[in-house]
Amino acid sequence: RQNERESLYIILNFAKNFYVQQLHESDEGQAVGLSYFKERGFTGEIRKKFELGYSLDTWDAFSKVALEKGYSSQLLEKAGLLIHKEGSQTAGYDRFRGRVIFPIHNVAGKVIAFGARILKTDKSKAANQPKYLNSPETDVYHKSDVLYGIFQAKNAIRQLDHCYLVEGYTDVISLNQGGIENVVASSGTSLTFEQIRLIGRFTPNVTILYDGDIAGIKAALRGLDLVLEEGLNVSIVLFPDGDDPDSYVRKVGAEAFKIYLKQNSKDFITFKTEMLLQDAGNDPFRLAAVIGDVVNSIVKIPDAIKRQVFFHRTSEMLKVDEQMLITEGNKLLRKLH
Ligand code: GTP
Ligand code: MN
Ligand code: MN
Ligand code: MN
Ligand code: MN
Repeated sequence: RQNERESLYIILNFAKNFYVQQLHESDEGQAVGLSYFKERGFTGEIRKKFELGYSLDTWDAFSKVALEKGYSSQLLEKAGLLIHKEGSQTAGYDRFRGRVIFPIHNVAGKVIAFGARILKTDKSKAANQPKYLNSPETDVYHKSDVLYGIFQAKNAIRQLDHCYLVEGYTDVISLNQGGIENVVASSGTSLTFEQIRLIGRFTPNVTILYDGDIAGIKAALRGLDLVLEEGLNVSIVLFPDGDDPDSYVRKVGAEAFKIYLKQNSKDFITFKTEMLLQDAGNDPFRLAAVIGDVVNSIVKIPDAIKRQVFFHRTSEMLKVDEQMLITEGNKLLRKLH
């Protein structure tokens, strides 16, 4: 079992090196991949830090080299690099073809998977293929346990005692380009306990920078009470509709971006209360439901002093008696324990 995982790490590292080499040394990699990254403003230093690469637009450029090197097709398949159809007589074909490659590292820095983006210039392809193609779940890659960029970010997170959480690979990279290194991505999935715990190993302070789209943010909010349960201090920054951290930092520049973060950061409970209040309008029944919802979130916070601060703060926002909120909260707390 241990040996099997070791073999996967070795082949994944081999693949990473191959993709990096193709990006810089093949004609296609330079013409297509490198120019794509450059267009997005990713410097050589940043490409190196994140080990960005390119997979040639052929069926077997990678697996041919790997098989020649003596890696078995079974291992390639187990690593998620080779697709082999059940019963097929052929060797199979490369999963990643004609895409720029974002290696995904574990906390220790080992490559465990890849994210691969289609090139935006390739319109005929973009029509029927996913923008990002990821490695499948393997013995070393459990998507829901992973945060993209954690290896590159962990020292900065610890040092600054703060972590930014974004949605996408390119958000992580663009923020790094702008000098913000304490940043990781959930890679488009809704946040899991494992991901929260992973951040919690390095800091309790998290600021969520999600893409500016209200529907998506509301969906994300539903799952967020779990970050409170873990005792994390969570804040949220919203971007103008249609922007994500990557597009916004490139639009306004790193310095203005940092100021924007400072000015627009709201703690999660306040943010949630404001959102719910906006939706409820003046309807007394909906307002009552909002109060219940907010109290429900506050009692998830393990620290009694922090709970008290939020009861006080939200009682003002909700225009209700603080003592009533506390009484309701205590009822819920007794049920929880
Ligand atoms: P760019 O368009 O390159 O700037 O990427 P983005 O990160 O802004 O993409 P988006 O906001 O659409 O999605 C956020 C993250 O969700 C991505 O970085 C991916 O991790 C993931 N994602 C997006 N589209 C897909 C997809 O088609 N398939 C899969 N598996 N993941 C995706
Ligand atoms: Mn798992
Ligand atoms: Mn995005
Ligand atoms: Mn983007
Ligand atoms: Mn008070």
